Amino acid sequence: MIGIISAMHDELAELLLVLKDKETFILGNREYYTGTLKQKQVVIVFSKWGKVAAALTTTQLISTFQPTEIIFTGVAGAINPNLNIGDIVYGTSLVQHDMDASPLFPTLEIPLLGKTYFKTILNTKLFDSVNYFQQNYFTFIQKKEAITFKITAPKITKGIIASGDEFISTDQSFQKIKKNIPNLQCVEMEGAAVAQVCDEYKIPFQIIRIISDKANDSAPVDFPAFTKKIASKYAKGILENYCS
Ligand code: ADE
Repeated sequence: MIGIISAMHDELAELLLVLKDKETFILGNREYYTGTLKQKQVVIVFSKWGKVAAALTTTQLISTFQPTEIIFTGVAGAINPNLNIGDIVYGTSLVQHDMDASPLFPTLEIPLLGKTYFKTILNTKLFDSVNYFQQNYFTFIQKKEAITFKITAPKITKGIIASGDEFISTDQSFQKIKKNIPNLQCVEMEGAAVAQVCDEYKIPFQIIRIISDKANDSAPVDFPAFTKKIASKYAKGILENYCS
């Protein structure tokens, strides 16, 4: 069974519409939906925002449903200045940008785990599904919606994703994170917590993030509309292909 997590219900709404034989399990104030997506058994859940919410959801998901792999999909703020709204980051490793137990442990290192970066399992099929989605973009996304968010030719970038319990929207926070983490692509609030739980339980983990904003004080996009009309269609397009 494949576990699929997003932070918001809207990010998974399109995927839930095509889930067959759907059953709902309510555990720890979360709804876990099991069923068949194309050829694969999946369990889908939205974690809510932040590292604690993401960690508790992932732990419950693993202990109740014993997934063989977990995929996180959702939106993120760009740190790499070359990234634009609608671009896709295929995560290669994750770091908790707000972890700092110095001087007892190096800044960013997870105390007693001895790790700073959690590597994902780089899976060709998921990357191929991301590429297929990008190459056939306008079969998945309506032109009019893309124009609304000024998306013209979305790119795919592989790289580091940072997570922390802060929505980054000031230049000061942006610069601090950028300076502390070389080669960082984007920032969000859950991925590295899910990655840590997967690391501790030895479950293969993968992540895709769609750029929704520039993580600074430039004008924010209409976040609810972006997740509903754009991000959830990315999740459906990419994961349906992955599961077929
Ligand atoms: N998720 C999407 N945009 C984000 C941002 N700017 N900061 C943190 N998480 C995000």
